[in-house]
Amino acid sequence: MKVLLVGEGAREHAIADAICRSGLLERFYAVMRYRNPGIFRLVKQHGGEVMLGNSRDPETVAEAVRRFGVDLVVVGPEEPLFRGVANVVEERCGVPCVGARREVAEVEMSKAYMRRLMWKYKIPGRLRFKAFRNLEDAIRYIEEYAESVAIKPARQAGGKGVKVIADLQAYLTSEKRQVKMHHAKQVYEKYMAGYTDIEDRILIEERVEGPEYTVQCLTDGQTVLAFPAVQDNKNAFEMDIGPETGGMGSIAGPGYALPFLTEEEVKKSAEIIQQVVEALHKETGVRYKGVIAGQMMLTPLWGPTIIEFYARFGDPEAVNVLPILKTDFLELCELLVDERLAKAKLEFEEVATVVKCIAPKGYPERRDLAAGHPAAVEEEKIRAKGCQVFYGSLDLQDDGTMITKGSRLAEILAKAPTIPEASEIAEQAVPHVYLTDGWGVFHRSDIGSRALLQRRIEQAALVRGVYQYRLQKGLIGITIDWIPGRGKIVYEA
Ligand code: GLY
Repeated sequence: MKVLLVGEGAREHAIADAICRSGLLERFYAVMRYRNPGIFRLVKQHGGEVMLGNSRDPETVAEAVRRFGVDLVVVGPEEPLFRGVANVVEERCGVPCVGARREVAEVEMSKAYMRRLMWKYKIPGRLRFKAFRNLEDAIRYIEEYAESVAIKPARQAGGKGVKVIADLQAYLTSEKRQVKMHHAKQVYEKYMAGYTDIEDRILIEERVEGPEYTVQCLTDGQTVLAFPAVQDNKNAFEMDIGPETGGMGSIAGPGYALPFLTEEEVKKSAEIIQQVVEALHKETGVRYKGVIAGQMMLTPLWGPTIIEFYARFGDPEAVNVLPILKTDFLELCELLVDERLAKAKLEFEEVATVVKCIAPKGYPERRDLAAGHPAAVEEEKIRAKGCQVFYGSLDLQDDGTMITKGSRLAEILAKAPTIPEASEIAEQAVPHVYLTDGWGVFHRSDIGSRALLQRRIEQAALVRGVYQYRLQKGLIGITIDWIPGRGKIVYEA
């Protein structure tokens, strides 16, 4: 089979690695915006070619499909899907595509669409929300209601712009109102700037608290096959502080659950995703063929709760699960595009995995400072430490140097019987990724550590106690507020 991969990050390097391990692969091709060194090498090793161009643009991808005469396209990131790459590949080029079509990728692109869908079909794990098309209406709402909320861009905006504000109506309410208004303005003017493909601009959701995790699935629109749950760590700095990033590292396993998450909770999460896939089909008439991931939180309100959907693998979450997949990835892709995924079985190595992302200083807020530095990745030494490296935001030059593009430049994967052991192994390999001009890099040494894991276990135990009590009392999904002078307000699920 001749396969074309769309995309250029570390997630795509992990997908490329899974494709190239397949017995079905004949030649491997890639279309990317810059020359990811890891993907570039795999293409060369498997007799293919790279097209450098706008991998988000359907016309560019269609040109690559025709030029290389491929049999299958696999799309890594979300933006090409939002712009209709899968539609063009299938309809105009007549080539099957592992990647959601425009209509169903809406579940990630529009957070308001996703929430409306969940309410319309009464899918568990839904949150109360309000979507606003202009700033004035959002400000009026904030002035009127004092609530604990998450304020977000209504569109997927590269994971940026989410602010969670606790407002318990007890103190500092007017100051918190100012913070909410300021952030709504930021969302409107900064994070949503340039997105013209969606009418909703600002989303205000009820605030929930609990440990987060991601459940990534393959689907042919009917069968949903879940991968082991993964926990990404979004904050830039140790102990969950600092600005939100695309993800600084992630943990998984061994098996489907996590040390703070039960198999039953993973199963419930996959059932929610299954219901959403079915609802998307009812709504659009289009079968979802690709990857869908629930970015979930274990909350007192519902137990497993949807925070967002991804129409793709997470990054770095893909790096936890794809390298330990024992099932042939292209066989899975074939079954997926033929709508025969029910015949597939996912098998994984029985290990824990930890991924540590390494980023140039300046990331995520000053990518201009983080970009333009020459990097060294000592692969032999990393392998000698028992780890694997996946290349991220690095552009391979003709003379062999690799230049940072401003985001996470590499992701180190370690495997071991337990997460803390894998974390310690990964730590040994991290110093082998650095910048040769003296500019600094950073990573989070606490990801997968016993201390952080213990914190997650304690947090999950508290949440679990509450949601199981609510389950027994028939209160799952129901929110009760008490407002002085107005009394009790019950929000039915
Ligand atoms: N790890 C977060 C994301 O993939 O968006």
